[in-house]
Amino acid sequence: MSALLEVRGLRKRFGGLVATDDVSFEVAQGEIVGLIGPNGAGKTTIFNQLSGLIRPDAGRIVFDGTSLVGMSAHRICRSGVVKTFQNVASFGDMTVLENATVGGLARVGLAEARERAHAAIDRVGLAGREEVMAAELSLPEKARLELARALATRPRMMLLDEAMATLTPQEQREIVALVRELRGEGITFLVIEHHMKTIMSMCERILVLNFGQLIASGTPAEVSRDPKVVTAYLGSSVQEAE
Ligand SMILES: Nc1ncnc2c1ncn2[C@@H]1O[C@H](COP(=O)(O)OP(=O)(O)OP(=O)(O)O)[C@@H](O)[C@H]1O
Ligand SMILES: [Mg+2]
Repeated sequence: MSALLEVRGLRKRFGGLVATDDVSFEVAQGEIVGLIGPNGAGKTTIFNQLSGLIRPDAGRIVFDGTSLVGMSAHRICRSGVVKTFQNVASFGDMTVLENATVGGLARVGLAEARERAHAAIDRVGLAGREEVMAAELSLPEKARLELARALATRPRMMLLDEAMATLTPQEQREIVALVRELRGEGITFLVIEHHMKTIMSMCERILVLNFGQLIASGTPAEVSRDPKVVTAYLGSSVQEAE
């Protein structure tokens, strides 16, 4: 298996805090991999390094043979890696179409970006909502808009940071179904999610982070019975931790 994404020895300190502590993992083309861990474990910090928002202190990030370390966020996006934001980040005073177009503009000019935005809006099930202000959308529609904005960049790999945090279980299942379809169309996913049932049902493989360190990785069944993982979740059953 040659990895699409290879992360080796990734480190990031914030003052005295080691937020990413020698983290190594790989993601193969077409996988849906989960990244879980308690609050403050360092999940978003890993995404921020992968997407170029912050620069690692040490380590390698190689995407499809190209090193991403030191590349601008813009170039990383153009190379095919896109991240959604943990807190729904749509511009509320812009329309659905304008929001999705912002995604497209990361890679192409306005006319083409609008075309890509329309395609992405259709793909996530928001057709007919193009001219609605993002602030007027329901929570599941906002989550879909985040996906549309990312999709409009024509990514090869999507990093989803709690894209389903505000959704009901049924709404989450619908997003999971959409993610599976997109994976079938060639997009690889790395997903941060606190809803355990959702992430366990969504991913073939789960990485578990605690205090900046990767403490386990394996299938959902393997990690949920791993004593280190259970301890990290303060003794609660991982299956039940929501
Ligand atoms: N820019 C920053 N400056 C200083 N400390 C930071 C910065 N970003 C994150 N941290 C700290 O790094 C640690 C990891 O934060 P991070 O946001 O990556 O956690 P997380 O696993 O995404 O948590 P959550 O589940 O709550 O979203 C936390 O202790 C956080 O306070
Ligand atoms: Mg986070």
